[in-house]
Amino acid sequence: MSDKVLKKRGKHQPTTLLNIFRGTDASNTKFQTFEVPFQSGASVLDALIWANENLDQSLSFRYSCINANACKECMMLVDGEVEYACLKRLEKQVMRLEPLPNKKLIVDLVTDIVPPKEKFLTTT
Ligand code: FES
Repeated sequence: MSDKVLKKRGKHQPTTLLNIFRGTDASNTKFQTFEVPFQSGASVLDALIWANENLDQSLSFRYSCINANACKECMMLVDGEVEYACLKRLEKQVMRLEPLPNKKLIVDLVTDIVPPKEKFLTTT
């Protein structure tokens, strides 16, 4: 992955920066900075969706209900605090996004959040 800041296109819209954890395991991770449009009231999830659609389609995160606070799939660390990305408002300063701690990392901001009792059993 590139260390370059991935930027939005267009010159007149205000922007902000997301410093996002990338990777799949402890030996192969880094933070990558994305410049995204800033809009008052927009959520971190809005910015992640924009970055995925416009800058890097490999950027991985999870969500389902969007703003209903029902699915809890968008939980992640935002500046070191556990937050719902769909509820956390975008700030006009660098925001650091990381996967949930103490959960198995799958990729980028996606962790295994399924309770053990709900996992499918496999038979061999
Ligand atoms: S997307 Fe469901 S709680 Fe955030």
